[in-house]
Amino acid sequence: SHRIMLGPLVAAIDQGTSSTRFLVFNSTTAELLSHHQVEIKQSFPKEGWVEEDPKEILQSVYECMERTCEKLTQLNIDISNIKAIGVTNQRETTLVWDKETGEPLYNAIVWLDLRTQSTVERLINKTPGRNKNHLKHKTGLPISTYFSAVKLRWLMDNVNEVHEAIVSHRAMFGTIDSWLIWCLTGGKSGGVHCTDVTNASRTMLFNIHTMDWDPELCKYFGIPMEILPRVRSSSEIYGLMKSGALSGIPISGCLGDQSAALVGQMCFQDGQAKNTYGTGCFLLRNTGAKPVMSDHGLLTTVAYKLGRDKPACYALEGSVAIAGAVVRWLQDNLGIIGSSEELEKLAASVGTSYGCYFVPAFSGLYAPYWEPSARGIICGLTQFTNKSHLAFAALEAVCFQTREILDAMNQDSGIPLTQLQVDGGMTSNRLLMQLQADILCIPVVKPSMPETTALGAAMAAGAAEGVSVWSLSPEDLSEVTSEKFEPQINPEESEFRYARWKKAVQKSMNWET
Ligand code: G3P
Repeated sequence: SHRIMLGPLVAAIDQGTSSTRFLVFNSTTAELLSHHQVEIKQSFPKEGWVEEDPKEILQSVYECMERTCEKLTQLNIDISNIKAIGVTNQRETTLVWDKETGEPLYNAIVWLDLRTQSTVERLINKTPGRNKNHLKHKTGLPISTYFSAVKLRWLMDNVNEVHEAIVSHRAMFGTIDSWLIWCLTGGKSGGVHCTDVTNASRTMLFNIHTMDWDPELCKYFGIPMEILPRVRSSSEIYGLMKSGALSGIPISGCLGDQSAALVGQMCFQDGQAKNTYGTGCFLLRNTGAKPVMSDHGLLTTVAYKLGRDKPACYALEGSVAIAGAVVRWLQDNLGIIGSSEELEKLAASVGTSYGCYFVPAFSGLYAPYWEPSARGIICGLTQFTNKSHLAFAALEAVCFQTREILDAMNQDSGIPLTQLQVDGGMTSNRLLMQLQADILCIPVVKPSMPETTALGAAMAAGAAEGVSVWSLSPEDLSEVTSEKFEPQINPEESEFRYARWKKAVQKSMNWET
């Protein structure tokens, strides 16, 4: 057998909420050559709490890397062609570890976690005019359970090991990107403690104008600045892999997963947008070199900064907490489906929710409401309703939530999107894609290579100074093929259903009173 000749290869670690993946791309064609995926366990130790084990996450990364390298070797592809590795990750998820032992001091608190709800309410009550947007001028974010600062504060107040490590200057804070890069570059023996501007912008400790940690914000949350990672751009060499089959390869790209998807979808122009359907659902619209503050409940976030001397680009973001997570809930908690593929079949068997509306506000409601006390509801049930209708309502919920953030986005920018670029695991559900086009009343466009998040991180890694095997101009990529879903129902019907959904949302926010 002979070795296949290829251009330089670039890889990405995609550490999401539900799974970890390692993917290898050909940098001359953006073709995905091989990958491996491992599911991540989530634990729910108390109602509203969501945790993951940082060591299991790290292990899953190593496992995905080794298995992908084996697969490449089986394909006769020489792994020494891999020139750079990018990291992309679930954002906001927070952990603290001991830099001397290398051990995490508590589980990672996942972005969806609600344990800080009372802290958040107390903080908001203390602001002038009970204003959840009190810190927005600096951070682009409302005070919410979603972001890292309150999770870190909880760890400091409730986990003795964290408190002690801080007092004795052994503590390191990080989001998942920081944890992985530190471990992969050597951990307690010389690991690099850093994060990139996109991940930093989700902590609520980062000033999106100065592009650095903000002493006032750190003081506000009582966070000692010495535990924070160094903030770097999204595309530069952070360090080299210390062990394993890819030992010595530079890690040279780092972006939060939603930023990476924006890059992977080539949304480099002001006004371009994408929506990613993962555990949650996140619509980001590039606003170019200036941060735009939303009047309609969206976040302002750093989109990317592709090189130390390159300008930062910003985005408006509509975040939906529960998208794919509702599928897992139907499977694990209700047991009405055995797999996500079954959901599509079940829903398609009826083709309607029969007037049933399902608001999966399991972690409160994110954009545009930012209401942590909202809880999930299912309404409009009759004797006739069955699990197929419920399955359909769950898919519709994802579409309605996207419609709400698209509306907010259009109002903020004044220039309505004429089609929506999508990606993420759920986009393999064709019924969902059609429903989405029907509910938005604009076409939905899906790239044929669905791994845009990983592609974005790999591109950033390959383009870094000192690596430079990939230029970031879209023209260099072979034509991106895509599939388009056109709206098929009439706008009146769409509006009618959407109006009903909005009523259901109101009930999810007020059901206690
Ligand atoms: O902000 C959370 C987000 O980054 C998680 O993405 O794909 O794991 O749902 P995902």
